[in-house]
Amino acid sequence: MSDATAGTLAPHQAVSITPRNIRFMEHLPVAATWLGGDVVGTAVFNALSLTFPDGERMFMDAVRHYKAKLSGALLEEANAFIAQEAIHTREHVALNKMLDPNHYPLERIRAHIREQTAIAERMGPMTMLGATISLEHFTAMLGDSVLGDAKMLAGAPEDVRRLWQWHAMEETEHKAVAFDVFAVVTKDWPRWRRYMTRVHAMALVSLQFTAHLTYYASLLLAADGMSRSRATFKVLWFLFGKPAFFRRGLRGYWDWYKPGFHPWDHDNQAMLDTWRQVFAAA
Ligand SMILES: [Fe+2]
Ligand SMILES: [Fe+2]
Repeated sequence: MSDATAGTLAPHQAVSITPRNIRFMEHLPVAATWLGGDVVGTAVFNALSLTFPDGERMFMDAVRHYKAKLSGALLEEANAFIAQEAIHTREHVALNKMLDPNHYPLERIRAHIREQTAIAERMGPMTMLGATISLEHFTAMLGDSVLGDAKMLAGAPEDVRRLWQWHAMEETEHKAVAFDVFAVVTKDWPRWRRYMTRVHAMALVSLQFTAHLTYYASLLLAADGMSRSRATFKVLWFLFGKPAFFRRGLRGYWDWYKPGFHPWDHDNQAMLDTWRQVFAAA
């Protein structure tokens, strides 16, 4: 956490951010329904993985754009954030190769994802940063779900499970970086404007991210022979019913709308430290 945010945010404990350059996907292919035979869960995680290469590229570009305005600890954190996201992108590109492009409509899904990032890019770096801080809040919540409940990835092959756990851990580690960059680059704005910007970004991103992830996962399931309506229902059930991949993070989600919110208000550092030890020897 940088001192640069002092005055705009309550002080928070420093969290070191370590890019871990690990290659997970060396034992391809894995089973088509790799999540213990759960077709719906597999499709949701695959759909999420498909969003990462372009999504995380936008996160990196958004933070990189403002690097000239950063200094000290926050600049170092921004560099570590970019390094982590670059490695995440590489590993998800590798993971996504296990999806058969002749079976799944991958180009259709990727084109839609690219369209979404292109819209944010056309609107400029502040829109990109607003989308980034909102989506980083989502990745932190989903990371909390993955790390906090071993059942989420039970049944996945070891390489794939470790990839998701490693990603979840690093998302937790850097969950406040883009947020702190946003706080620094908007420090001269009136508080209400800063608040409205991040609330507006989150409201939009929440609807779009949920709708688009559901759309992508249902396209994957439809390619496997499920009807689109049944697929949509099943995906929404996975997100909000059982195992409630999204719903279990809802309390943390609403915290975003508190005026003084900071990502480390949800202090899950003890859990993070446990996972850091798991990957320390990797
Ligand atoms: Fe990431
Ligand atoms: Fe991230």
